[in-house]
Amino acid sequence: IRVREFPNGFEYIEIQNSSAKAKIALQGAHIFEYQRVGEEAILWLSEISDFEQGRAIRGGVPVCWPWFGFNEDKNLPQHGFARTSMWEFVGANEVNESKTTLLFRLTNSEQTLKIWNYKFLLELQITISKELKMELKTTNLDDKAFKISQALHTYFSVSHISEVTISGLDKKPYLDALSWQKEVQGGNIYFEEEVDRVYQEIDEKIVLRDKNREINIKNKNSSSAVIWNPWIEKTLRMSAMKEDAYKYFVCIESANAFDDARVIEPKQSHTLIVQIF
Ligand code: BG6
Repeated sequence: IRVREFPNGFEYIEIQNSSAKAKIALQGAHIFEYQRVGEEAILWLSEISDFEQGRAIRGGVPVCWPWFGFNEDKNLPQHGFARTSMWEFVGANEVNESKTTLLFRLTNSEQTLKIWNYKFLLELQITISKELKMELKTTNLDDKAFKISQALHTYFSVSHISEVTISGLDKKPYLDALSWQKEVQGGNIYFEEEVDRVYQEIDEKIVLRDKNREINIKNKNSSSAVIWNPWIEKTLRMSAMKEDAYKYFVCIESANAFDDARVIEPKQSHTLIVQIF
């Protein structure tokens, strides 16, 4: 485990054990590389991502918190402030030679209280092993309840978007974020155009199939998932993405969004968990 930095001073943790290697930025507690030994990278990272303070990394797993998507106040940042905040690296635990856990922490500051007036503790535990596990725990340290929506916004690297099939969401209702209509999924998901959907009532694992590879995504304390690919035109409008970037990733986001947003009472916690294997 080493703390490293880019030439501009942007810091990240580099970790390698006998099963995988990973890189996690202190800004956002943002994992931007995870690769099992002898296998291809699981996470997609834009070749032209910014590693700059105050700008979210394009790729990996942005932590969207304490709101997912737009805030009603349009002056506030999309997907909340956690992904652009500096987190504290609490420490690492080498459970055994093939399994390491890392803990990151974010608490309210003068700045966060200005845009979101609640006291909180947010902890992200990342387990690097044959599987990648992320546990995002929100604790309400305030004396009033608050409501959060959130997502572990995973960008999966794929050989080509036209090879991708997603299963596990058959018959699930979803909100189509392109039309704001409620729809119901029929069968597997394929990609032939822009897709931006919030699936609800999820209770089983989601499977991403791509040519010769299968990736399983199992969520806990979450019944919503976002499936997103910007396709051609939106990619051109996106920051830090090359014009053909959409061909090489798909986002499957483990969420508590829309109907699945959570109210957390004072002194109570909620932990959103994803296991990727
Ligand atoms: C997804 C949303 O979760 O995030 C998309 O569903 C959005 O609509 C995407 O474009 C990326 O957002 P951002 O803020 O990282 O550019």
